[in-house]
Amino acid sequence: MSVLVIVGAQWGDEGKGKVVDRFAAHADVVVRFMGGNNAGHTLVVGNEKTVVHLIPAGVLHPQTICVLGNGVVIDPKVLCEEVEGLQKRGYLTDPAQLRIDERAHLILPIHRMLDQARERSLGERSLGTTGRGIGPAYEDKAARRGLRVIDLFDEKYFREGVERIVAERGLVLEKLYGGTAPTADAICEEYAVYRDRLGPYVTDTSSLVADKIAAGRRVLFEGAQAAMLDIDHGTYPFVTSSNTVAGAVGTGAGVAPRHIGRVLGISKSYTTRVGAGPFPTELEGGVGAKLREVGGEFGATTGRPRRCGWFDAVVVRQAARLSGLSGLAITKLDVLSGIHPLKIAVAYDCEGVRYDRVPSGVRSLARARPIYEELDGWDEDLGAARRVEDLPAAARRYVSRIEELIGTPVTLISVGAEREETILLRDPFLL
Ligand code: GDP
Ligand code: IMO
Ligand code: MG
Repeated sequence: MSVLVIVGAQWGDEGKGKVVDRFAAHADVVVRFMGGNNAGHTLVVGNEKTVVHLIPAGVLHPQTICVLGNGVVIDPKVLCEEVEGLQKRGYLTDPAQLRIDERAHLILPIHRMLDQARERSLGERSLGTTGRGIGPAYEDKAARRGLRVIDLFDEKYFREGVERIVAERGLVLEKLYGGTAPTADAICEEYAVYRDRLGPYVTDTSSLVADKIAAGRRVLFEGAQAAMLDIDHGTYPFVTSSNTVAGAVGTGAGVAPRHIGRVLGISKSYTTRVGAGPFPTELEGGVGAKLREVGGEFGATTGRPRRCGWFDAVVVRQAARLSGLSGLAITKLDVLSGIHPLKIAVAYDCEGVRYDRVPSGVRSLARARPIYEELDGWDEDLGAARRVEDLPAAARRYVSRIEELIGTPVTLISVGAEREETILLRDPFLL
């Protein structure tokens, strides 16, 4: 099988970017299929660090085609800046390396404004969104008044669409939140520039991807966010506004489910979350602060400190079921060196009832008390390990206990941010 899907198995920032970049050398195409520039995927090669928000994490490999599928919401301003930034550094020099789907929905400035104004007005009850307009853009898509990339090329249709969105959404922005909506004229003028810049990249990517799959080429689907942020299966309402599980590849890239076989879930060796919402294994202070400091747990998109806690097997098990994980990548194992003992949540106690799955009610989850198992830690620095045998026995036991609890083989262990700081147990395309 030549198709591999990579998804986050926790609350995001698991190291998806690193793993996608590591495998993209062997992929012909890397496809983003959902989310937008709420994502921040970090790639480290030697001393060079790159953070991509929209462009797939395969971009550092010039022979790898990068696709933004129809399920992605695109802020063209951010995309243009990202393209230019990469080009200045010598990447993406061939326009054929980037393909943008005609059906992808556009984020407009008013979506960003609504996202931020709504968060401000919610005060303490805010979701802690990234403020990038992701939610409002998906709302307009579902309301069937959204504008798509293809619409940029029909000036009259685009203008009428913008006028309608500004009329409807501007009312809420102004009357409810006291903001000032941009004029349709200003938006049309700004977006004409993006149309001209992005034009060379726009195409029907669903058929491009279908052709590659039919030709047996290696296609990698790069998830953004993660299972617990999925709008249906995550910790609703503290989620993002799209489906993030592997099934979203079908709708978000226009690929039939029968093509999707192998799915690699990415999980940290502990847990982090950025933004509000329940987090049963959260550690405030002490070990939590140490994880944040040693793991550099600050958001790649917003710079916010990430909340940190113990590995939660309940969460990752749920992700494994939802996405049908055929393999699990454990990242940031190096960060756990020197912590004694280590703890893993194996189940929850929800008011006297044992839960082996994540409760659906957000208030039940907020009250869930993790049931922990303790494991021995280790002190060795793991950065130089390239084979499982290079790891101390306690680290090997920790990984195999996770494997047992999740019921999914661990096929990759990451011991540092750099591309090569990786222990590869199996060829990802042959999991
Ligand atoms: P993504 O959103 O899933 O792509 O993850 P992010 O890039 O937002 O966050 C992961 C962070 O951890 C980035 O700063 C990576 O460079 C870093 N990272 C990834 N894998 C490892 C690892 O194994 N060890 C360490 N120490 N850092 C890692
Ligand atoms: P990557 O792909 C971590 C979180 C936000 C907030 C919630 C909703 O880098 O793993 P949104 O802006 O999507 O409406 O915010 O989702 N969130 C992420 N958290 N990693 C991400 O992406 C995230 N994208 C969104 O912090 O809690
Ligand atoms: Mg991230």
